[in-house]
Amino acid sequence: MAQATTPTQGLEGVVAAQSAISSIIGSTLTYRGIDINELADNSTFEETAYLLWYGELPNQQQLQQFKSQLAANRELKPQLIEFMRGFPKDALPMVSLRTAVSALAFYDPEANDMSPEANNGKAIRLLAKFPTIVAAIQRLRNGQEPVAPDPNLSEAANLLYMLNDRRPSENAANVMDIALILHADHEFNASTFTARVTASTLSDMYSAVVAALCALKGPLHGGANEAVMKTLEGIGGPDEVPAWVADALARKERIMGFGHRVYKEGDPRARWLKQMSKQLADETGNPKWYEMSAIMEDEVKKDKGLLPNVDFYSASVYTYLGIPRDLFTPIFAVSRVSGWIAHILEQYQNNRLIRPRAEYIGPEFRHYTPMGAR
Ligand code: SDX
Repeated sequence: MAQATTPTQGLEGVVAAQSAISSIIGSTLTYRGIDINELADNSTFEETAYLLWYGELPNQQQLQQFKSQLAANRELKPQLIEFMRGFPKDALPMVSLRTAVSALAFYDPEANDMSPEANNGKAIRLLAKFPTIVAAIQRLRNGQEPVAPDPNLSEAANLLYMLNDRRPSENAANVMDIALILHADHEFNASTFTARVTASTLSDMYSAVVAALCALKGPLHGGANEAVMKTLEGIGGPDEVPAWVADALARKERIMGFGHRVYKEGDPRARWLKQMSKQLADETGNPKWYEMSAIMEDEVKKDKGLLPNVDFYSASVYTYLGIPRDLFTPIFAVSRVSGWIAHILEQYQNNRLIRPRAEYIGPEFRHYTPMGAR
């Protein structure tokens, strides 16, 4: 039995296991050894998901087959849509997503089949259905019928199509595709580690993904992008940003979208999202959100030495794409489910139950006190 070590708050700096999926060294993030800057420049979300799952970039035939499998599995069962019609109109989309994904297992005959073939099939069905579920949540809560997925569109374009019931511009689809690439995986972040802990008990893939969704929801993790937009909307305009930052820091408040447990020289994803936010600001003729974000970035860096993380500029990018604020984290999940699945499969392949120890700091040993003596 390995000697228990002294705990560090939040497991900071603890190496919990080996993984071959993604690595963070300094400000460099790679998926299976390929820098995300090269993937954002040259790849697509479908190609990146394939790389994360199978370890290599697909050739033309493999990519075409993967895309066809995803397209063929986007539809939701009518029973699931009927179940979703009963969700409260004011339910948080992350709560609706968690609930709908959990219900997916009812309609998957392979839900509890742990064979590699069944797990691969579930992986395809989960990745393919997440965008359809998120779009259906948005449509149903607005009293609209879900838009059926279009098998001829890419994952990114189809997501925007089902959300808005109109085909996106080429640029909007490209921006969404890059955003999905950037959010796909990130080593042992909280939601991914939650998925691995669940998978390590040999629980099924649906259970591990639902567990990860629950972790992603928190504002210190995936919920930060929604919190960033709420902050920007609450400030008013660019001129008010410096005073707001100074005031927030004086109150020792956490400013959402800044800081990172691992990146201390900056989150490489933020550069891409900043660039896309600026591009969309120019394209839409609505510079406000980008301008406010850029001023906040300068002020927080100047006053606290903190840099933006992936959630900071994704808030304005999604807003420019017409996505409502409380759908930002579900969009994060549409991408990150590809990483969660890669880690779940890796955990199954070489599994050992994840069960750390605790350093006990409770009362000394003592005996039971009868009621009359208390
Ligand atoms: C994601 O882990 C991942 O990989 C996550 C993610 C992924 O791709 O999966 O990258 C996605 O979740 C990004 C993070 C999104 N969360 C936020 O933006 C929430 C705001 N950020 C912070 O809560 C914080 O920066 C964390 C949670 C991200 C990291 O916190 P740590 O590593 O626990 O840092 P800490 O709390 O020890 O803070 C160190 C110091 C403290 O100052 P002092 O008390 O020592 O003076 O930095 C300060 C903190 O107060 N600080 C902040 C701050 N973040 C840290 N001060 C103001 N605003 C902030 N955002």
